[in-house]
Amino acid sequence: MSRRAVLAGGAAAALSSGGAGLAWWWNGRERLIEPSSSEVAHGEAARPHSGRTVRSALSAREGMAALGFQSAATWLYGGQLPGPAIRARTGDVLDVEVHNLLPQSTSVHWHGIALRNDMDGVPGLTGPAIKPGGRFTYRFTLPDPGTYFFHPHLGVQLDRGLYGPLIVEDPEERLAPDVEHVVMLDDWTDGLGSGTGPDSQLAALSSANGMSMMDMSNPGHAGVSATAPLGTDGGDVHYRLHLINGRGPDDPATLAAKPGDTVRLRLINAAADTAYRVYLQGHRLRVTHADGFAVVPVMVDELIIGMGERYDVQVVAAAGAFTLVGTPEAKGGRSARAVLRTRPGGGSDDALPPRVQGARTLTYDDLVPLGDQLPTRKVDRRLSLRLSLVGNAYKWALNDKVMEDMQHLSDSLRVHAGERVELTYRNDSGMFHPMHLHGHTFELARDGAPGPRKDTVIVAPGATVATFFDADNPGQWMLHCHNVYHQAAGMETVLSYRT
Ligand code: C2O
Ligand code: CU
Repeated sequence: MSRRAVLAGGAAAALSSGGAGLAWWWNGRERLIEPSSSEVAHGEAARPHSGRTVRSALSAREGMAALGFQSAATWLYGGQLPGPAIRARTGDVLDVEVHNLLPQSTSVHWHGIALRNDMDGVPGLTGPAIKPGGRFTYRFTLPDPGTYFFHPHLGVQLDRGLYGPLIVEDPEERLAPDVEHVVMLDDWTDGLGSGTGPDSQLAALSSANGMSMMDMSNPGHAGVSATAPLGTDGGDVHYRLHLINGRGPDDPATLAAKPGDTVRLRLINAAADTAYRVYLQGHRLRVTHADGFAVVPVMVDELIIGMGERYDVQVVAAAGAFTLVGTPEAKGGRSARAVLRTRPGGGSDDALPPRVQGARTLTYDDLVPLGDQLPTRKVDRRLSLRLSLVGNAYKWALNDKVMEDMQHLSDSLRVHAGERVELTYRNDSGMFHPMHLHGHTFELARDGAPGPRKDTVIVAPGATVATFFDADNPGQWMLHCHNVYHQAAGMETVLSYRT
């Protein structure tokens, strides 16, 4: 171990700027398993491999997003919104050359993929940032099929137009829909006038005073109920637009199919600060996958999707044009929409279709895994995280620590390869937090039965959520709230493998 630890003070700066090189902390007794460690290379070599390499390229640069009737100057992948879809199959090696034409450093993170640690795209932790003008080739095996996405892992860059779908097809797919569409939801503020960009939004939040923090800090004020499962404070930023596939509600994207087709919708929430309640006019949704993993199909009228979550749903398309709605949960703003169309003409009118009376909304309890459960075994290590605001400032904390002073926290989130880990979240704040663990999928704990596999889990105000995972992917892994503003305000830590 050549590098001594730096995680006090400079670490947050290193992580958010990506410019200061790897920032390691070491307590002298245990060795950190670094991204460059042989364990990481061995783990990659052991992943089942199809023998195929899928090559792709992404350029990150400034550009205009059309958004439908209102365009915005922003940052994009490949000049388009969403960025170009990347498709491969389980066991393929993905080889993506990223060219950074942005005025700042960036990185690409492959959200939800249990990949080799040194390709995880977290500057300062798993590798260097890509400097302006620079290039980096990400190359890794795709171990699991499913719906994923990619985005930068620096500051609040995700709240610009930098995101795109990553679809890993399953060669053993049983459900075989007739048609499939990717549906990416996003909250949009960038480039809609001066001071609307994500950096300005973060600066405004950071200068807010203690009074406005009252409701955010108190789970008792959160207003959680059956009809408001995430409470009544659904986000920190006001968004003028909510998008599906890069289009605002005035010029919605069309999802084409034929009447009677079985249509798969791969729903991805790429928003920074908004969960959506999603429903499709005239259809029930058959939920088949959560965060890429198959579940026993369950029929619902609507579902709530948090930032970083994905659901695959199937519908049997009726004849006509039907509005797919994504209503911002517990915050204002016009709903995102797209149109499922099986016939030309006719269509979806301006008025949003009403939600079904007494709608059946998906809950995590409805999700029963179909295969891929963790084997039953005893827990080797119990970790817990308390989610809260600290002080009278916009500082979101894990176990009362924000990223700048996480030296001790990181030490408490250490694991050893091979352990079964229980990780419990307790939300002592008035806002929901979609907690995301890199490099692993966990199982939601459930009495007497296996819970679903996920990589992102919403923890509602006042709630406690227990998860289990096997420490089977050595390295240094981010664990954070997928509200990008919460993350930037400190709500992130590292799951740290040691020997
Ligand atoms: Cu979707 Cu740490 O990321
Ligand atoms: Cu959060």
